[in-house]
Amino acid sequence: MHMTVIGTGYLGATHSACMAELGHEVLGVDVDSAKIDSLKSGVVPFFEPGLPEVLNRNLESGRLNFTTDYGEAAEFANVHFLGVGTPQRRGSYAADLTFVRAVIEDLVPLMKGNHTIFGKSTVPVGTAAQLQELADSLAGPDTNVEIAWNPEFLREGYAVTDTITPDRIVLGVNGGDSRAEEIAREVYAIPLSQETPFLVTDLPTAELVKVSANAFLATKISFINAVSEVCEAAGGDVTALADAIGYDDRIGRKFLGAGLGFGGGCLPKDIRAFMARAGELGADRALTFLREVDAVNMRRRERAVQLTRKLCGGDLLGHRVTVLGAAFKPNSDDVRDSPALSVAGSLSLAGAEVSVYDPQAMDNARKVFPTLNYSPTVEDALTGADVVVLATEWQQFRDLDPATTGELVRRRVIIDGRNVLPVDQWQAAGWDIQALGRNL
Ligand code: UGA
Repeated sequence: MHMTVIGTGYLGATHSACMAELGHEVLGVDVDSAKIDSLKSGVVPFFEPGLPEVLNRNLESGRLNFTTDYGEAAEFANVHFLGVGTPQRRGSYAADLTFVRAVIEDLVPLMKGNHTIFGKSTVPVGTAAQLQELADSLAGPDTNVEIAWNPEFLREGYAVTDTITPDRIVLGVNGGDSRAEEIAREVYAIPLSQETPFLVTDLPTAELVKVSANAFLATKISFINAVSEVCEAAGGDVTALADAIGYDDRIGRKFLGAGLGFGGGCLPKDIRAFMARAGELGADRALTFLREVDAVNMRRRERAVQLTRKLCGGDLLGHRVTVLGAAFKPNSDDVRDSPALSVAGSLSLAGAEVSVYDPQAMDNARKVFPTLNYSPTVEDALTGADVVVLATEWQQFRDLDPATTGELVRRRVIIDGRNVLPVDQWQAAGWDIQALGRNL
């Protein structure tokens, strides 16, 4: 099948390459010529394991191409995926739909014949219906444009697998004489042949599925982090507790990782946009608990700073703190709303001399927080540290040897902000190891 993918950020670049991998002829489209040039030359402009290989394989096969020309996109295919960003609007909790609307405004007037646009961006419920109205108002006399919604559930770090073998495919359609389901069955023929659940819903349900999934994940993380606060107060151990409740199938251990909490380009902004939209719909009370989810999450960052201060004898000024990690999670170079970078920044603003090391996110971190000291190697970052804070659980940090690490620092004091280190081994090597939600 011929198809375009409009927007070649995280979602769109992955979707273009993976659709080509599934055998389709794909044209990726973006207004950012630097991104397009990079993708055309086989370079993924962000860190995503496995994606460069898929990109290059499909560029070479000729099935994948990129352009900045919307006219070319309108001619190339009758099936389009919309994957542009919906960031948090400045000065508000709501989502900014400027980019999504701009795609419809720029693309639809160029279309001829029957076209289907599958929205993949995370949007407030009601957006697809509004975009359909907008598209109808812009389409020429012999043109019909259908808007369907096909939310994306990929995780950074696992984007390729999540796209090629998704755990479910959700499609929102407008009923009536919709062609979207038939087209989607052809697009996703391979995953559907592998018995991937396929759920066809109305448009608002599909839009809500996406934000509900992210709101649930955020709630699960904040639940365990709230319990973590109680563990700290009562002298319990949140990781043992999470293991114990996680054995209950109805609860499950996944996303009960207590620590510095969630960040990234999705969970934080999505729960806020969900609250804002519910408010607009007069259902704000339904989601007030998400405010608490957000607050618990933010308090974990403060707690890490507070604990570091305590371990520096009550004053951060003049103390050297090493922050291991800058990305919002391992296997990513994404620093958007990163708990690690937020902690590093707060420690620095409170007077600590902070050294940061991250295996992939240094360049992005430097752009967001240029005043921190970025070390070229993990050893360099650790040298002379009074306190070490493990803030992103990269395998490299989990594998650190407590004895050799101990030779580098000034004081053997570490905060495990992600609850991943083998406590016994660190203690045996003479370390004072502290963690969030545990009394060690
Ligand atoms: C999230 C969702 O998991 C995806 O399903 C969704 O498609 C995506 O958002 C999106 O909307 O595009 P992602 O942002 O890549 O994916 O990250 P997650 O793996 O969900 O992790 C989010 C944050 O939660 C990270 O900062 C991570 O460190 C934190 N986390 C995760 C915890 O603090 N504890 C846990 O137990 C799990």
